[in-house]
Amino acid sequence: MSQFNDRSVIVTGGATLIGAAVAEVFIEAGASVTVIDIDTEAGVALADRLGAKAQFVAADITDDAQLTAAIHSAESRFGGVDYLINLACSYLDEGQDSSRADWLTALDINVVSAVMAANIARPLMVKRGGGAIVNFSSISSQIAQTGRWLYPVSKAAIRHLTRSMAMDFADDGIRVNSVSPGWTWSRVINEVSGGNRAKADQVASDFHMLGRLGDPREVAEVVLFLCSPQASFVTAADYAVDGGYAAIGPEQRSPAIPKLAE
Ligand SMILES: NC(=O)c1ccc[n+]([C@@H]2O[C@H](COP(=O)([O-])OP(=O)(O)OC[C@H]3O[C@@H](n4cnc5c(N)ncnc54)[C@H](O)[C@@H]3O)[C@@H](O)[C@H]2O)c1
Repeated sequence: MSQFNDRSVIVTGGATLIGAAVAEVFIEAGASVTVIDIDTEAGVALADRLGAKAQFVAADITDDAQLTAAIHSAESRFGGVDYLINLACSYLDEGQDSSRADWLTALDINVVSAVMAANIARPLMVKRGGGAIVNFSSISSQIAQTGRWLYPVSKAAIRHLTRSMAMDFADDGIRVNSVSPGWTWSRVINEVSGGNRAKADQVASDFHMLGRLGDPREVAEVVLFLCSPQASFVTAADYAVDGGYAAIGPEQRSPAIPKLAE
C-alpha cells in the first residue's frame, strides 16, 4: 500500500507491543511515524528498528507543554500531521477503593490527554486539508468487570468522546473513530501469563468466538484501515477487534442447556 506515502502519523503510547504494531503497519504503508511515550528505552529501540521514517519523542501526555512540543515535532520533522492514534493508557484501577487522586490520574491519561492531543493536532491536520483520529477504547467499555471501575469508565468515555469529536471535527475534514480490542497479546498479558501465549489463548478461548487472543497486528490493521481512503465515509464509529467477544452472552461458547440435565 503506497497510499500513505508522505503521510505523517502520531501514535501516543507507541512504545508498547500494540503501539509498536500500529507504528509498523503505518511504516510499511509508506507513512512517517512519531511515537510519543514515557517509556524512553522501548521507544528509542522501536524507532531504531523502524528506521529513518520513524522518530521517538519522550513525553508525558498529561503535560500540555510536553504534548504540544511532541506533536509539533511531527510537523517539523515530517512536514505535517495527518493522523493521530490515541493509544496510551493507564491500567491504574483499585475498583471501588480507588482514591480521588487515582480517578483523576486514570481519567487524565486515558481520556483528557486524548482530548488535548486531538485539539493540538487538529490545526495541523487542517493545514493538510483534513485527517483522521483513532481513539483506543476496549471491550471493557461495555461490560462490568469485577474490581475494575476506572479503566472501564475511561474506555466508555472514549467511545462517547469519539462521537462528540467526530461531530465537531467533521467540517475540518477530520474523521474520528475508535477501536475496541478484545484480549490482545500485549505487555500486560505477556507479564501476567509469564510469557505463555498458549495458556493465554486457552484462557481467552471461552469468551472470544475465535477461541484465542488477538494479535497486536490484527488490531493495527484495523487502525490503518480507519485512517485509509477506504474508510472515507466512516466517522463516529467504534470498530470491535475482539474476535466476537462483545457478541457473546453469559452462556459463553459452551452449550448451556445441556447443563440442565447434568
Ligand atoms: N492489552 C489488551 O488486551 C487491550 C485490550 C483492549 C484495549 N486495549 C487498549 O490498547 C491500548 C494499548 O494497551 P496495552 O495493553 O498495550 O497497554 P500498555 O500499558 O502496554 O501500553 C500503554 C503505553 O502507554 C504509555 N503511557 C502510559 N502513560 C503515559 C503518559 N502519561 N504519557 C505517555 N505515555 C504513556 C506506556 O508507557 C505504554 O507504553 C490501550 O489504549 C488499551 O486500553 C488493550
